[in-house]
Amino acid sequence: MLLQGTMRVNDAGHLVIGDCDTVELAREFGTPLYVLDEQTFRAKCRAYYQAFTAKTNADVIYAGKSLLTLAICRLVEEEGLCLDVVSGGELFTAIKAGFPMSRIYFHGNNKSVEELLMGIEAGIHRFIVDNIRELYLLQNLASQKGRQVDILLRLTPGIEAHTHDYIKTGQIDSKFGLAIATGQAMEGVREALRLTNIRLRGLHCHIGSQIFELEPYADAARILLQFAREAKDATGWEIEELNLGGGLGIYYAEGDRPPEIADLAETIIPAVHKYAREFSLPVPKILVEPGRSIAGPSGITLYTVGTIKTIPGIRTYVSVDGGMTDNLRPALYGARYEACVANKMHMPSSHTVSLAGKCCESGDMLIWDIIMPPLEPDDIIAVPSTGAYTYTMASNYNRIPRPAMITVLNGQAELILKRESYDDLIRNDIIPERLMRKVTTEASK
Ligand code: LLP
Repeated sequence: MLLQGTMRVNDAGHLVIGDCDTVELAREFGTPLYVLDEQTFRAKCRAYYQAFTAKTNADVIYAGKSLLTLAICRLVEEEGLCLDVVSGGELFTAIKAGFPMSRIYFHGNNKSVEELLMGIEAGIHRFIVDNIRELYLLQNLASQKGRQVDILLRLTPGIEAHTHDYIKTGQIDSKFGLAIATGQAMEGVREALRLTNIRLRGLHCHIGSQIFELEPYADAARILLQFAREAKDATGWEIEELNLGGGLGIYYAEGDRPPEIADLAETIIPAVHKYAREFSLPVPKILVEPGRSIAGPSGITLYTVGTIKTIPGIRTYVSVDGGMTDNLRPALYGARYEACVANKMHMPSSHTVSLAGKCCESGDMLIWDIIMPPLEPDDIIAVPSTGAYTYTMASNYNRIPRPAMITVLNGQAELILKRESYDDLIRNDIIPERLMRKVTTEASK
């Protein structure tokens, strides 16, 4: 298993992160436990900030969908990043954390009237408008409130990039954005310019997630700037901001070779400058929206081993006290992870086992066929690269409470998310009067 960030092994043979012994963390905070390596999180934020804002006019917008809590908002703010929210709930979190609204970008393909109003009233920086209906809704609400709103239009450039390949056609078939190829993107520009309470600042696209190749970003820049040129010719509108979305891949398991953050900047910045020149446009402000590549490598999850079931000649299932409720990615996407036994780091790996979750679902498997030291109940399993899209996709399936989350930094561990209690699980449950148990007391007989 690759030791990332501040991970190391101490003399006791225990996994250490942020100078904290993970076996002690498990004892103190219980498991499953999300552990955020604050130094790594901040370092990734800084790498983005430096790679982009030192070299050109740029904003780095952290994608809150990857990992968001009040404390995370504080870290993101302190590191000088902006924040991408995609729902009223994410915006509410940012508001409650006191995150500056002048640094909020509001995404979403189906923002409700309430969400749009919330954004207008909060005075967020930019709406990323996904479709023409949203343009009209926003215009109506902004004019009712006597406000001007600044927007980017989300376009579908006809590129779809995934981990190891990318396709340049076919992406018109997406629930997101206005396709350039169908003419809807140009219609969006024309309508936005016509609406008096809307100010069209720029264009946005997001070409995928967990991307290992960089050329698709340069292609996206070319396609969007070519479109900006066509829009200028057709309407006179000039692009000020170009948002190329997020998507940079990270290391999850052997074979993953993600590019560096600096490599992404060195692809995007020259490409935008080059194509702006080629299409005789001013160089726009460059925006990027990383989520996974900041939060992902910063998080590990700790579990405790429970039942071990060996089916002779077939397989050994090692069940842990979490699973698809705290990390849906293996069950949903077949996502691969590495893991280690946090209390047996000095022991040689000799046994092939499969790590299972505790949900009533055969598909609730965390890792198939992993070679580990001999395991026993109460061993602590650590799964790295679990900072992104784990807590934010967590559920209460089987009425399992969601785990706690802590930050670790220089030997200090601090709770940033309380473990859910059973009381939390029934907090919103209601028994209608008619279903109430009739309590017959002596007096009522
Ligand atoms: N911007 C937009 C418009 C996005 O849709 C996304 C991710 C991002 C930025 C951030 O992308 P990142 O840098 O994190 O790749 N649940 C999936 C990932 C879904 C990504 C959705 N959009 C997973 O667990 O792999």
